[in-house]
Amino acid sequence: MKITVIGTGYVGLTTAVSFAMRGHSVMGVDVDAAKVERLQRGQSPIYEPGLEPALQKAMEEGGLTFTANPAEAVARADALFLCVGTPEGQDGRADLGYLFKAVATLQELLPKEGGERLVVIKSTVPVGTSDQIAGMFAAYSNVHVVTNPEFLREGRALQDSLEPSRIVIGARDERAFALMEDVYADIDAPRIHTTRANAEMIKYASNAFLATRISFMNELARLCAAVGADIEVVARGMGLDSRIGPEFLRAGVGFGGSCFPKDIEALINLARATQTPLSLLEQVRAINRSQPAWFLDRMRNCLQTFAGKEIALLGLSFKPETDDIREAPSLVIVKRLLAEGAHVRAYDPVAVPHVVRLFPELTFVNTAYDALEGADAAILVTEWKECTQLDWLWVKVIMAGTFLFDGRNAWPAEHVKGLGFTYLGVGRS
Ligand code: UDX
Repeated sequence: MKITVIGTGYVGLTTAVSFAMRGHSVMGVDVDAAKVERLQRGQSPIYEPGLEPALQKAMEEGGLTFTANPAEAVARADALFLCVGTPEGQDGRADLGYLFKAVATLQELLPKEGGERLVVIKSTVPVGTSDQIAGMFAAYSNVHVVTNPEFLREGRALQDSLEPSRIVIGARDERAFALMEDVYADIDAPRIHTTRANAEMIKYASNAFLATRISFMNELARLCAAVGADIEVVARGMGLDSRIGPEFLRAGVGFGGSCFPKDIEALINLARATQTPLSLLEQVRAINRSQPAWFLDRMRNCLQTFAGKEIALLGLSFKPETDDIREAPSLVIVKRLLAEGAHVRAYDPVAVPHVVRLFPELTFVNTAYDALEGADAAILVTEWKECTQLDWLWVKVIMAGTFLFDGRNAWPAEHVKGLGFTYLGVGRS
């Protein structure tokens, strides 16, 4: 099929590459001409494992091209996938500005009759948006508007795109479902054919539920810390119940990223706007916002004060295997440590260039060991393997102090305690 992907951010670029890898003829289009030029040279603007080589291969084989010219991109396509960002707006609701701009471009460029075309909304949008967009194409007899949410995770985006857990298609008529099945013909994953509104809600509900699990565990971790229980053992015990399952039970300094915080905010605001508040989700948000402060308070109790302390901070991205720092807990933690007079040396394998701009007063180093050398205390914020698989005997030699603050419960607690470190995890006895 000839597919055009509009927007080449995380979702758009990964979708474009994965469609090309599966034999479709794909063109990516973006309003950012500099980004398009980079892509045309085979360079990925984002750090995502495996994406750049796959992009280059798909381009070499002729299945993937990029353009900044919407007319060229639209004219050729059987299916147009809208993958533009829907960031958090000032009022907390999803900002649909980019999306409606892209829709207006399609209205301008698409003929009102002739060959059939799919207009597929992959961007995460509030319930009702796709129906609204379908209304905007009412005069186009040949256009099917479809919702097809994306569930990929950063750090394993390509893999998730190639092997999705499910394919959710929201559409109005059987013809649209059939055309969408052509797009995904070779993928063996459960299908849900439903309304556009249900498809939109499935995306929000999935993210909100995963975030709820994390906040549940983070709040429980606080109780574990208070009563002398260990959240890691508790999580293992819970996860073995097949009704619960082991995923997304990891306590830590909180969730971040481009999706959970933004989507929760959008859902909370959508709910309020319809006078059906989601009070549980409001609590999920509140727990997540206070989690870094809760951990920092415990750290400060150990150290008496942060003032004048040398602190090694390991990991800046919101999770490992990405350079994304959007809503990363590290930013809140750095801000408070600096405000309270700590000297912070930070290490991250890939995210440093993004943080330099925000905190020029931070000291950035090239390895975890460089950060740890001479430090009074260390805090693990992101569980990169470069930050967790350490030679602890050597760490004991090079650190000045003995405090290890494990914000992801990813350091070997018993081992480091045995070496004489003072270990503080999240909700661990
Ligand atoms: C998420 C969804 O998983 C994905 O389906 C959706 O399409 C986009 O949003 P992503 O933001 O890439 O993906 O990351 P994810 O792996 O879900 O982690 C989100 C945050 O939760 C990270 O900050 C991570 O550290 C944190 N997390 C995750 C926990 O604190 N504990 C856990 O048990 C799992």
